[in-house]
Order: sequence, then C-alpha cells, then structure tokens
Amino acid sequence: MKLHLRIATCLAAWAAASVYAQSPAERFVDSLMAQMSWEEKIGQLNLPSVGFDVTGPMLSTGVEEKMKQGLVGGVFNTFTPVAVRKLQDFAIEHHPHHIPLLFGYDVIHGHRTILPIPLGQAASWNLHLIELGANMAAREAAADGLNWTFSPMVDIARDPRWGRVSEGAGEDPWLGSRVAEAMVKGYQMPQMQTQYSLGYPQSVMACVKHFALYGAAEAGRDYNTVDMSPYRMENDYFPPYKAAVQAGVGTAMTSFNDVNGMPATCNSFLLKDVLRKEWGFDGMVVTDYTAINELMFHGMGDGAEVAKKALLAGAEMDMVGELYLTHGDSLRKVHPEVGEAIESACRNILLAKYRLGLFEDPYRAWKEADAEVIMSAEHKELAKASAMESTVLLKNENRVLPLNSAQKIAFIGPQVKRRRDMIGNWSGAGDWTQSRSLWDAVAGWDNVSYALGCNLVQDAAMMDQLNPHGALLSLDEKSPEALIKEAVKVAKNADVVVLALGEPYGMSGEAASRSSLSLPEHQQALLEAIAATGKPLVLVLMNGRPLCLSEVEGSCSAILEAWFPGTMGGDAIAALLSGEQSPSGHLTMTFPRNEGQIPIYYNHRNTGRPFDAQQKYTSKYLDVPNTPLYAFGHGLSYADYSLSNLVCERVGSELHVSYDLTRSYEGYGGPASQVTQLYMHDISSNMTRPVLELKGFDKRDLMPGQTQTIHLVVPRNEWGYFNGDRHWVMEPGEFEVSVGFSSDQRPLQTTVVLD
Ligand code: NOJ
Repeated sequence: MKLHLRIATCLAAWAAASVYAQSPAERFVDSLMAQMSWEEKIGQLNLPSVGFDVTGPMLSTGVEEKMKQGLVGGVFNTFTPVAVRKLQDFAIEHHPHHIPLLFGYDVIHGHRTILPIPLGQAASWNLHLIELGANMAAREAAADGLNWTFSPMVDIARDPRWGRVSEGAGEDPWLGSRVAEAMVKGYQMPQMQTQYSLGYPQSVMACVKHFALYGAAEAGRDYNTVDMSPYRMENDYFPPYKAAVQAGVGTAMTSFNDVNGMPATCNSFLLKDVLRKEWGFDGMVVTDYTAINELMFHGMGDGAEVAKKALLAGAEMDMVGELYLTHGDSLRKVHPEVGEAIESACRNILLAKYRLGLFEDPYRAWKEADAEVIMSAEHKELAKASAMESTVLLKNENRVLPLNSAQKIAFIGPQVKRRRDMIGNWSGAGDWTQSRSLWDAVAGWDNVSYALGCNLVQDAAMMDQLNPHGALLSLDEKSPEALIKEAVKVAKNADVVVLALGEPYGMSGEAASRSSLSLPEHQQALLEAIAATGKPLVLVLMNGRPLCLSEVEGSCSAILEAWFPGTMGGDAIAALLSGEQSPSGHLTMTFPRNEGQIPIYYNHRNTGRPFDAQQKYTSKYLDVPNTPLYAFGHGLSYADYSLSNLVCERVGSELHVSYDLTRSYEGYGGPASQVTQLYMHDISSNMTRPVLELKGFDKRDLMPGQTQTIHLVVPRNEWGYFNGDRHWVMEPGEFEVSVGFSSDQRPLQTTVVLD
C-alpha cells in the first residue's frame, strides 16, 4: 500500500471518531486506538535508542522486528534525513496501522552549530538570545530529521559538585523559569501550543526535564537521593518546571532520583497530583534512560512490579528499558487499572504525534533546502553573539582588559588550541573539528606567541574516563617541568599573558560529579609559575560549573569565565579580549570560596543568629567567610555605570519600579551592555523567607555618557509564596526593594508596603 493510502486509512478512522471527544486530535486518536491491539498500544510506550550516542546500557535489540509488530513508539539517537527516512519509511510500511515514529535526540545547546553550555547561556541574561538559540537548534535538528528534543533541562542546582549544573540555568527559580519559557518557545514555536505544527516544520517538540528535583541530589553526587521539604520544593525547585508547562512544553521527562523516599519515575504525587492536576500538563511523560529498570535498584520490586508502579504513577513512555513491553500485557490482564494507564499513556503519545503533524506528513514537510540552515553563516553569527554575551568578567584589576594591541601577548595553556572542549560535553551532533579555538581566532594578531604550558589532563586513567567516545585528548609527552619551563620563557618575552585553563569537556555533565572544584593541580602549578614572572596575567577559563578559585584569584589581574563557549567560542573570547565588545555576562550560580561552603546560594534564608563579627555564637565558619568568592549576579564590564533615582509605585495589582542607569563618559568607549537586577525581600512574614529574591532584570546597551530610565513591572503574585502546607499565601506588609549590578552589590534600596 502506498504511503498516502495508508495515511488515508488513518484519516478514515478519524471520520469514524466518537462524537463525544473534544477536539479533532482527540477524535482522531480515539478512533485509531479503537483499532489497535493491546500489544500495539503497549508498543507505543516503547522508546529504544537506535544509534551510537548512549548514556547507559544498550538493552534494546531486534528493533526492526519489533517495529514490524508495532512494538516501537519512537526512537532516539537516530538523525540525518537519510537515516530518519529509512527508519520512518520502514516503520510506517510495517506497522499494522502505519503509525509514524517520534525521533528524539539530546539537542541540548545547539544541534550542529553549538552554542555555549546552558549555564553559560543563562549567564547572558538575554532571554531573547536564548530563545533564538533554541530556535536555531530546532531548525537544525528538524533539518536533520528530528522532531523531538530532550531539552530544556531546568533543574535548579545549588551544588556545583554535581556535574550536570552545566546543563541548567543555575540556582535561581525566577530566572530559571524565564529561561525555561524562552527555550520551550524557541524549540516549539508558539504554534505547537495549540494545534499541530505542520505549518512550522522547523520546530521540534521540547521535553522539560528532569522531573523532579534532580538538581538537589545529596552531596552533588549524580543520581543520588533527594529529600526536601514541601516548602523548599514549591518555592525554590518547582517553578521552572511549572513555567515550562505553562509555556506549553509537549513532553516531560522523569528524573533518576528519589524524592522523600519515592523514586520520581514511580511517583504519582509528582507525575499526577502536581504535574497533571495542579499544573494542567496535557502532554506526554517519558522516563529517563532505563529509569523504570533502575526502580529495582531503588528496591521497589522486581521487573513486573516496577513496571506496574511506574505505569500507575503516570510514567508513560519507557526509555530503553522495555519493561512495559515485557510485562505490560500480563499486568493489565490482572490489574484493570494498569490497562487504563496503558490506554491513557498510548493516547498521550499519539496525541503528541498528532500535534507534531506526523499523521499528516511523517517528514513534516522536510525538504532538501532545509539543510542550508545547518552551520550557516547566520547560525555561526548567533553562536558567536551568544558566546560573547555568556562570558563573565569575574575580575579586572587595573583594567588589564581589554588588551592593548601594541602589547606583546603570550597565549599559554592547554585550552588555547583545543577545539573539542569548546563545544562542551553534551554537544550531540556538534562537529568539534569545525569549532574555533582561541588560537584559531588570535593567531593572525600582531605580536602573539604560544606555549602549551601543561597538558589539559595529567593522569592517563582520568583521560580515558573523560573521553568515552574515543581518545580526543592527545598528551604532549614532555615532562610537566619541561612544559612549564617553555611556557615561562614565552611569558617572559611578553608584556601580558593570557592563560587558558579549565576543565576538559568530560569533567562536567552527566556522571561527572567532583568533590574538589579547584583547577587540577598541574594547571595550578603552571599558573603559579607564570604568575611568578610578574607579568600581568589574564586567566581565561573554560569549564562547566562554578569552580573554587581562591587559590588562583590572587595571582590573576583579570579572570574571564567563558564556560564551554560553543562552535564560535574562540572568536567570541578574542573579541572580548581585544575590546571589540565588552563582556556583559553575569553569574547565575554562586562561585564558592571552597567546597566546604557548599551548598551556597544567594537566596538563602536568615538564621536566628545571623553573622556578626563581634559575636562568637553566630552562624559562620571558623576558617572561611560566609560570603562566596563571586556572588550570584556578579559580572563586570569594561564600561563604568552608576544607578540613581529608585522609585517604587503600586499600580493596580502590580509594583512598578523605575531607576536611572548612567554609563560614564570616561574610559572604555566600545559597545557594552549592562545588566541591572531587581531584588525583593519580605521583611516580616509567617515563615522564614529568603534574604533576597530576584524579581526582574534589564539588559541594555548605552552609549558613553548616556542615561536611561528603566521601568520594571512586578506582578502581585511575585511577592506571595507557598507555605509549608503547599498553600499559596499573600501576606501584606513591608518589603525591601533593591536594585543593583549583582546580588551583593545593590546601591539602590527602599522599602514599600504591599498587600
Ligand atoms: C540520560 C539523561 O539523564 C537525560 O538527560 C537524557 O535526555 C537521556 N539520558 C537520553 O539521552
């Protein structure tokens, strides 16, 4: 039978649909399901990995045979139009009802053109740019045959030991929520929220993950236990997931961790009560990789038992594990409620396919010309802009930056020439050979020299661990001492040294927790040797998490945190070093002084004994201050700014805040944008409230000498909160409102009475 005839059969089923169903999509799906066997319905719940890019054991075999029996609902890790078409054609041809597949993939921060890691993008404080970035990724992914991305990851994280902080937006629930919305919009485009998006084939369906609370894994160790009060859950960790749902995200992924003794993947409180009933999520829930099977390790029973628990809790699509396939049919024969859960899961999966337009055109109007967007000049430009805005200037003593072009500049360090690390750990289909290293960008400058200085990783066993997909790190065989000696010689001949250090790409991301967050010892030794030359030292960092830089900071005149900056990272860093553009990124996650301070975050609650230097019995450490090295919101500019005229006014149900931002006429005259941040604090309340909460921000370009008035609007619900019983409360009283350049630098402050 020809494809269009098969689709016609599907559509004919639609015509016979129940008159009681609410929408065309539901009528279509109901009638299709009326013709499906139990095995085929369970088959829709099966999501095997077909491809090379795996993050766990490969359990699924004989996928093609399963497709013939209608036992596959979608696949992930297969892309390129050729591979997708081959599999999709096969699936439709052989499926008893010709149901097309979902094609998922981890398109995390760009698809082929890679943007900075998500933690870096969040540091841009540019929501429009973040949305454009997600949209760029969606266009490239769709051109590559994909229709579903496992992104955005919106887990709030306060513990930088956890390697996955690189994938999220940092520690703040309000900013995390805005980033979540921007990414969902960028991936799906608004049309996905209502009907199907066939008219907008360049979109992909998004997946908010990891639901829930994965970022609170104990001790920052990946996959670890989460235990959390309802108060903290609601106010600090839930908001970004909820924001993604409200932005219309099509799917949600369960997390690996347990929550208060119940694994998230069989947690009906999370998946049913919160996600569906309270937030109104109407998409589909997929598990994380073999997460149902892992319930056995959590001690939740044998294969059949955990499959039942997960199904009844609302986990709908089984990623890789195939326990639904193995046990679903026998379970539903004994437990009618399992049958209902299978029906409902199958329905939601088919609805997702309908919304994507797959029943109408399984290739979503794909055409060869779509591929032109992949790594186009326009996308590279966007990647460069994103990398420039994501980079954070942490320190700039004596204005050593921007560099003076008359200076002799030595570029030293293992990250100067590396292309692979630029695109980070989770760069999926990104082609690192096309990424631009720092050296690619600066080699043509006058008066530059280079030395390696040290290997990125010193220890060979660690190197293997960090390169699961092959040895992309080649080590220079000279001794560490010889490498340092060469570098010192190069440094001595220069006026200024740019030292590029950091983590190898595999040291952040999944299964990459670390207990020590300083620079590796041998990199530290290089830094000290270079600092001893007395030359001004500019440290450029590439890494995926906040590092502990106390040992480093004093030796550097300037520190530029570039994260893993993506395909165009080298050009972006070079543009910032040269002063072609000022850095404008601000941290969205606190940089601790040492690991003992963790968890450390700006929006903590006060104790009954706040720190007082004159009093012994106050909340503090004996060996380190309470303050971080670099606070949430911190980020310097080459330009100088001042703030004045804070005015707060209640207008209807909103608080209107305005203030003036002035850029100084003196100093750096190049292009610069500045982030200003609005914080609130509930002075007196019925529960202990955070000492500060971000409630708004602005980012804008000003010319030297220019002043602009900034207006921000805070809606009334922003000063309410969930109490310990998970009830929303608004408490009238006094609030402190402050505006500044970071959470620890807020020159404008006032109090207002709000109800
Ligand atoms: C495991 C990860 O936790 C998740 O984020 C990812 O989407 C899946 N593997 C699929 O690769």
